[in-house]
Amino acid sequence: PSRLPTDVSSLAKFIVSPECRSIAILTGAGVSVAAGIPDFRSPGGMYDTLRPELITATAAQRRAMAADPTAVVLKDMFFANAFPYLEVRRPFILGTRERRWRATLSHRFAELLHAKTGKLTRLYTQNIDGLDYQTALPTEKIVAVHGSIGKVACEGCGAPMEFDAFCAEVRARIKDLYGVDSAAPAESTPIPCPACHRPLVKPTTVLFGSSLPAEFFERSAEDLPSVDLLLVAGTSLVVSPANSLVYRVPDSAVRAVINAEPVGQELGIRYSPGGRDLFLGGECDDTFLALMVQLGWADDLARLDAE
Ligand code: OAD
Repeated sequence: PSRLPTDVSSLAKFIVSPECRSIAILTGAGVSVAAGIPDFRSPGGMYDTLRPELITATAAQRRAMAADPTAVVLKDMFFANAFPYLEVRRPFILGTRERRWRATLSHRFAELLHAKTGKLTRLYTQNIDGLDYQTALPTEKIVAVHGSIGKVACEGCGAPMEFDAFCAEVRARIKDLYGVDSAAPAESTPIPCPACHRPLVKPTTVLFGSSLPAEFFERSAEDLPSVDLLLVAGTSLVVSPANSLVYRVPDSAVRAVINAEPVGQELGIRYSPGGRDLFLGGECDDTFLALMVQLGWADDLARLDAE
């Protein structure tokens, strides 16, 4: 670009300039924190608050979770013992059923970017919470890189289960163990697949050790070569291959990181003055709001809020 953006105001100008024709967004758990969903790796996040000693597991499995909390979402762990996955996901599963969480300003930004400019090529979300689908963004604009909590299937044979039926199972199995009013910590027992009878039914979220949806590879191969601006928001960028988007965009693309902390340096992001990488720190909702105001979309946002 002839003038590289250096702050919110110049980023807004770049977004609407003819030089910027195609914009991709990569989001992570940070964009849903304002909705009330903790992220993974911050203090108070899912991995930080994990209590392996309370989860039904062998001593070796508990040691593995204590050493590395991502073990709870590891494929090998799930096939050996579905309790840890169900335990950490249970509040999420039931909260989704109750529609407990609402799309944030960060989610609204993607919706308005598409509606107002038509330049959004794709939103790649690592989040499984489904909040992106609460917006009016067409579903073909969204790639759920790590799957979604709202779709349920057997991890072993692929047989689908209705989300509501699955939630009823999850809830019933908590009751089976302890009774509704029990003071004991609740725990869901694994759910047998109606087709293959193995206890492997779960939301179709991607486990570590499983491959990502084909859509991720197909869409990204198609989208990335023409991207002029990559917006990265609310992600630590430590998980691959989702994080590969940052180095697969063309060298000429501007990369703006909207996050509580600077991330991605080990992937080649350089926050040096005059460079193509831009860091906008703080709460991502504040930055996206400032950006929407700069873009003159405040009224559109108010209208969305009123709906
Ligand atoms: P992380 O928890 O690793 O990172 C969240 C990032 O968002 C951190 O850099 C935080 O500093 C930042 N953050 C938190 N709250 C914020 C806020 N309000 N405003 C701005 N920034 C904020 O979450 P992800 O990067 O999404 O995968 O994690 C990637 C993957 O690791 C997840 O999709 C999940 C996990 O294991 C699987 O389970 C396969």
